[in-house]
Amino acid sequence: MSNVPQHLRVPKGLAGVSVTDTKISTSEADGTLLYRGYAISDLAANAGFEETAFLVLNGSFPGKEELEAFTQELRKRAPVQDKVFGIMRELGKTAHPIDALRTAVSSLGSTDREETIDGKQFSLESKMSVLAANCYRVPRGERPTEPDHEQKFSDNLLHMLTKKERSDYERWVFERVLIFYMEHDMNASTFTVRVVASTLADPYAAATAGLAALKGPLHGGANEEAMKMLLEIGEPSKAAGYVERALREGKKVIGFGHRVYKDFDPRARLCKEYLKEILAKRGEDDRLYRLCDAIENEMWERKRIPPNLDYYAAPIFYLLGIEVPLYTPIFAASRTFGWMAHYNEQVEDNKLIRPDATYVGPSDLKYAPVERR
Ligand SMILES: CC(C)(COP(=O)(O)OP(=O)(O)OC[C@H]1O[C@@H](n2cnc3c(N)ncnc32)[C@H](O)[C@@H]1OP(=O)(O)O)[C@@H](O)C(=O)NCCC(=O)NCCS
Repeated sequence: MSNVPQHLRVPKGLAGVSVTDTKISTSEADGTLLYRGYAISDLAANAGFEETAFLVLNGSFPGKEELEAFTQELRKRAPVQDKVFGIMRELGKTAHPIDALRTAVSSLGSTDREETIDGKQFSLESKMSVLAANCYRVPRGERPTEPDHEQKFSDNLLHMLTKKERSDYERWVFERVLIFYMEHDMNASTFTVRVVASTLADPYAAATAGLAALKGPLHGGANEEAMKMLLEIGEPSKAAGYVERALREGKKVIGFGHRVYKDFDPRARLCKEYLKEILAKRGEDDRLYRLCDAIENEMWERKRIPPNLDYYAAPIFYLLGIEVPLYTPIFAASRTFGWMAHYNEQVEDNKLIRPDATYVGPSDLKYAPVERR
């Protein structure tokens, strides 16, 4: 043991540790978020989903023809084999949609016939949204819903998810939320994807691992949990009591806090505006907005902890009529583009990600047969 070189010790959870250089995106404590150098507010105000996906993947916005070709590549790979839906169906109605999605994506590794890494990535990016839209209905025995090749990515996904017509503004908002979910530097699932990519495993394996990391309530699972919390609290007048009790009991209030953003999450701020605007345009009672706002104020007063994207994406999805267990799969449908950008960046300048650990267990124990223990 004495010959082991001194390890470089890093903080728990790798907090504040830069593990790689990246040109894809950056987020900072003061609420800055850039995709390939573009501020998220600029993208939110002006960009479409497909062109942002191209930007994240390739480093610059596409020209008209590039965008058309990119969109066509995605569309042509959207159809999912019956065999894959069959695997989802076999899981049965007790399967959580995110588990069904992960299982289906894993099965693409054996069912997809793409030869090239590019082809595999297009296939994943495209099928992920079709599988996300079907990962609740198919395990419950319903027929798969098919993509509509005439529609853009976000409209198509929303329509597959809900089968409802939505106003221009609501569809625009859904596209913004997808853009916000697309990429976020070294979050837990992206790091996971990069670890798997560093072994030179294929994109299906990396995305399956990314989905596993995304599931947890401290990461992607937070949007579903946040909505359940909002539904449980129900009334703005009950917000203060709920937060007080949760904090007293040492519980996390899901949808609050972030490893990077300490003042505000720029995506949450924008989503909060959209939420208010959807209700105003519908002329509906704004109780859901007031509830969100009341919890936010209480968390800020008591802990100085701001809401994150998941907290305000959840009530937007709710107003759009999307079933709550589908919130994390939607996150995945968009984040796949970010995952693939990181997969490529990793393999282009690869080194196996294989950290070390400082052993703190005993070293002088001797084996004893079971009858002597
Ligand atoms: C996202 C998250 C994991 C970031 O965690 P982190 O950077 O490791 O920060 P910590 O969990 O160490 O939190 C720092 C402090 O803030 C508190 N805190 C952070 N998020 C909190 C929350 N949502 N509710 C209550 N307290 C919270 C912690 O209890 C801790 O307090 P302490 O210093 O008194 O022990 C954390 O904020 C969290 O669990 N949030 C809820 C889940 C969620 O919304 N996830 C989606 C993230 S986008």
